[in-house]
Amino acid sequence: MTTKKIASTVYDWADERLGLTDLAAFARHKTVPVHAQSCWYYWGGITLFLFLVQCFTGVLLLVYYRPGAEAYESVHQITFTMHFGWLIRSIHSWSANLMIFSILVHMFSVFFMKAYRKPREFGWFSGLGLLALASVFGFSGYLLPMDELSYFATKVGLQIPATIPWIGPVMASMLRGGPDVSEFTVQRFFALHVVVLPALFIPLLCFHLWLVQRHGNAMPESEENKPAAERKSEPFVPVFLRKDLAMWLIALNVLALLASVFPWALGKQLDPLAPAPAGIHPEWYFMSPFELLKMIGAILPGEAGEIAGILLFTLAIVLWLLIPFYDPTKESGRRARVAHYFGLLMIFGLAATTVIGYWTLR
Ligand code: HEM
Repeated sequence: MTTKKIASTVYDWADERLGLTDLAAFARHKTVPVHAQSCWYYWGGITLFLFLVQCFTGVLLLVYYRPGAEAYESVHQITFTMHFGWLIRSIHSWSANLMIFSILVHMFSVFFMKAYRKPREFGWFSGLGLLALASVFGFSGYLLPMDELSYFATKVGLQIPATIPWIGPVMASMLRGGPDVSEFTVQRFFALHVVVLPALFIPLLCFHLWLVQRHGNAMPESEENKPAAERKSEPFVPVFLRKDLAMWLIALNVLALLASVFPWALGKQLDPLAPAPAGIHPEWYFMSPFELLKMIGAILPGEAGEIAGILLFTLAIVLWLLIPFYDPTKESGRRARVAHYFGLLMIFGLAATTVIGYWTLR
């Protein structure tokens, strides 16, 4: 029996039981529009790739990481004693940051392509759910090494939810497991990071991907207005998939370069009695709300300023979430333009408050 014959016998055997031919026909049926802005279609896939990297490197880190009182010691062991431990840790940390960055690029690109409009509203809502969960992934993971920087940054970060009227202080205290950030906080954040968040994230991601399969990719308005005969598309399997995989390879190269040339540092062991080092700030993706609260606090000191800051930020998120109801179809007219400017304002607001945040730290 030749190898080809063996392969075809195995395929036929599996096909009879799993319906592989139907599956292949289903995959061939999906097409991707081809136009000047097609490059934005890669960003969802790049985010997916980075999430897979997170799962793989996260499991490897779990082999030696010990939450609680030994957290710092175990990360020290991973970084300085275990073979390639520093690299795995560095890839995990860099990939987390790149993943948040690519989610933001993906979100704004689907926004400007108006991919939140009917029938893709649930793609928009589930996407925002994924962004919220990814932010909590980042926040909870940041504390896990329990070095000086992560300890003080978490303390500062928890001040944001603590300013929410009534429930804020209770929420912050529940997250900390006491009045201050301690080994109990690490234990809680660890459970959140490796059990609760993946249990919520993975099903939501499957739902998100299923929706893309169901509705296909949205096109920019300029393309939608063309007659059907003038629009171009290509099959997802194998043409677009091949390009998607090439993007994954580029992402892997960027990641490998960053992780090996700029290895993720481990700060000093924490001394809770020592004063906070100068310039403590949250991760870059939380800098915007952090700075906004600071700016409003400077104009309106005390609790009133904190409440105003939280209200303003919540309002922006709610409006962002509800955009598919405001601009539901391509007949939206003036509303479509308002939504477009709102998107530009969001990008500008996020970028400006982040830059000012870093600027004022100096
Ligand atoms: C971990 C986070 C996420 C992953 C892994 C992910 C993955 C994907 C993938 C693979 C696609 C299809 C390819 C593409 O159009 O890029 C897609 C489409 C889409 N995503 Fe996401 N996404 C995530 C977050 C988000 C966020 C934050 C939003 C917006 C709030 C969003 C909204 C959408 C929409 C509306 C589509 C349909 C786009 C279209 O029809 O062209 N996604 N996503």
